[in-house]
Amino acid sequence: MDNILVTGGAGFIGSHTVVELLNAGYGVVVIDNLVNSSMESLERVKKITGKSVKFYQADLLNMEALQNIFEEENISSVIHFAGLKAVGESCKIPLAYFNNNITGTINLLMAMEKYNVKSLVFSSSATVYGKPESVPISEDFPLSVSNPYGRTKLIIEDMLRDIYKADTSWNIALLRYFNPIGAHESGEIGENPNGIPNNLLPYVSKVAIGELEAVNVFGNDYDTPDGTGVRDYIHVVDLAEGHIKALEKLTSNPGLVTYNLGTGTGYSVLEIIHNFEKACGKKIPYKITERRPGDIDMCYANPEKAKKELGWEAKRDIDKMCEDAWRWQSKYPKGF
Ligand code: NAD
Ligand code: UFG
Repeated sequence: MDNILVTGGAGFIGSHTVVELLNAGYGVVVIDNLVNSSMESLERVKKITGKSVKFYQADLLNMEALQNIFEEENISSVIHFAGLKAVGESCKIPLAYFNNNITGTINLLMAMEKYNVKSLVFSSSATVYGKPESVPISEDFPLSVSNPYGRTKLIIEDMLRDIYKADTSWNIALLRYFNPIGAHESGEIGENPNGIPNNLLPYVSKVAIGELEAVNVFGNDYDTPDGTGVRDYIHVVDLAEGHIKALEKLTSNPGLVTYNLGTGTGYSVLEIIHNFEKACGKKIPYKITERRPGDIDMCYANPEKAKKELGWEAKRDIDKMCEDAWRWQSKYPKGF
């Protein structure tokens, strides 16, 4: 059987995508060095689906380990999630981010080329739009970056565009995610950040469970309806389903294609807090603090292109996102 290689498959979005791949009947091989995840997530994937994956605990920086996988497994396509993703950390240790994300991707691409596997789905991010001139954001908006993490995404996108230009036998889907949240509805897998979360939803969730005192709302003087930042939150299972659609698309030889994966609706920080209160049945204390450097007012997608060309759209609403995140948090307060 042909297998899909999933890099970073033990992580948050990766594990949810592996569930959807297995449910859709694909064979799955995962490579992950577990730097930001645990093998337990793949055990839970087995619990959910009744199916297992072939797992390689290895680093993308290890070329030999990578080649060994292509040698051993019959890989037809790659979904590439593996990377470091903390914006703040990337400003402190940019070189580690460049090495891990860019060199890791170059190694992967070299192995793919060597074994003639030229079908790739890449995890890009809405961060490549920088500070957009308007919303909603379409795929043809100008690209820019404001931090080293974002730079790794843009550089990798640029590399992939160059590679495709030079060799049009590649099929590549660049998926620009907006803000993935939520968890599998079983409550068995979800986001499992190390230490104090940087992102809003996991922070709110930890306040709800009593691990953190209050949410710091980073500024209420933005140019938005209630003054707090507006984002396009998308359920991680909708996002995972988008990957299956992208993979299917690649079989029709589309060349290099780029899609926003978002809902098209923006919610403010305060709206998120209030929705989460509804989901968990508790009051969530918060305080307004300084703006976080680098944050923008509003960011939400125009998701029409993915709808038209992939037949994909997000189906799960904000209530469902908060309910599923809370189920995971309350079932496993300490994570994996
Ligand atoms: P995650 O940290 O949960 O998953 C990434 C996985 O990659 C982890 O399991 C980690 O152990 C692994 N990994 C990292 N470097 C590796 C290496 N060198 N070799 C092998 N494995 C390695 O993050 P996630 O939220 O699931 O994100 C997945 C991808 O989506 C990332 O590329 C991220 O940049 C991108 N993305 C995430 C978001 C978000 O908000 N979560 C938004 C846009 C894009
Ligand atoms: N926020 C708070 N308090 C917090 C955390 C966040 O008020 O404790 C606010 C932010 O100011 C922002 C919103 O909540 O207005 C969302 O912030 P997140 O950190 O959750 O998400 P970002 O939109 O800043 O960034 C995320 C990912 C990036 C990715 C980007 C676009 O972290 O990697 O979405 O996809 F690039």
